[in-house]
Amino acid sequence: FDGKNITLWKYESWLPVKKRVSLNEGGTPLYRLENLEEELEVRELYAKNEGANPTGSFKDRGMTVGVSKALELGMDKVICASTGNTSASLAAYAAKAGIKAYVLVPSGKIALGKLAQAIIYGAQVVPVNGNFDDALRVVVEASRELGVYMLNSINPFRLEGQKTIAYEIYDQLQRVPDNVVVPVGNAGNISAIWKGFKELYEAGVINELPRMIGIQAEGASPLAKAWKEGREFKPEEKPETVATAIRIGNPANWPKAWNAVKESGGLFESVTDEEILEAQRILASKEGLFVEPASAASLAGLIKLLREGAIDRSESYVLITTGHGLKDPNIVVNNFKLPEPIEPTLEAFRRVME
Ligand code: F0G
Repeated sequence: FDGKNITLWKYESWLPVKKRVSLNEGGTPLYRLENLEEELEVRELYAKNEGANPTGSFKDRGMTVGVSKALELGMDKVICASTGNTSASLAAYAAKAGIKAYVLVPSGKIALGKLAQAIIYGAQVVPVNGNFDDALRVVVEASRELGVYMLNSINPFRLEGQKTIAYEIYDQLQRVPDNVVVPVGNAGNISAIWKGFKELYEAGVINELPRMIGIQAEGASPLAKAWKEGREFKPEEKPETVATAIRIGNPANWPKAWNAVKESGGLFESVTDEEILEAQRILASKEGLFVEPASAASLAGLIKLLREGAIDRSESYVLITTGHGLKDPNIVVNNFKLPEPIEPTLEAFRRVME
């Protein structure tokens, strides 16, 4: 009973920032997925549920540090390109900091909940005729020319915040898992988590490292394709997937992510939209965890890799579930047909039960 909230600021001395714009981010639950362990016959399986952050995704870890840094640098305007979650998070932290946020999003390709968040937190929402990669190009140019501070994950302070996922996994497990499975879009988060583990290793806090497993959606999988075909990275022109959060063809952080996977002895894999939606349903219906489609890519990848015998059932796995399921309600409701309403009588309900 010390009257304190548990947040990522627990690790303040490991974060390169002095100011603190906080909404009590981090401190997210690590769930043991016992039902799935049994069903998938895997020794130890956990989900680090980043949907439990203040705006419902891991982006809040990066934004608390990034927006704090913006204030430290005296910036009063911040900007990002986003498939949705980054825009929601930046909008919230800019609101808390009392500065102006511009968010550029691919027109018509952002989940409803995320759009609602960006609007209500008071960001200036700018839909772009193009995909995330196009929007990011404009944002990078704007940050050079127009005096706005860029808070996409190519800003290193974003990754500094997100690396605390690794600290927390170690803190909660009290050991290093064999594998960490991460959905990959712009490739910042997998790079950040690897950085966190490496820092703990270099400081002598831990003496082993996990393998990093990066999962992409098949229609937006430039890293997984290059990895599996054993060739150089090449961006994809027309990324497409139901998991709009990771609908990215030219991941800005690809070299860091590639290095994380390679150095850790991990791998990249891709999964189809059907596999993603099936994994989303499994996680909710077997474990009570409702995550957005991009987040379910981690479980979809695990299932695929186990099925193919590419990974070991006797090891431990932590899935990073990156965003809350309520971000994207349409994906569920539009794929489900409700039955006709019944009369409000016991008799009518009795027939339903039969
Ligand atoms: N999962 C979710 C729910 C995301 O929103 C994102 C990225 C990722 C995974 C992939 O993380 O980009 O670090 O590899 N969303 C960004 C956005 C691109 O704009 O919200 P990454």
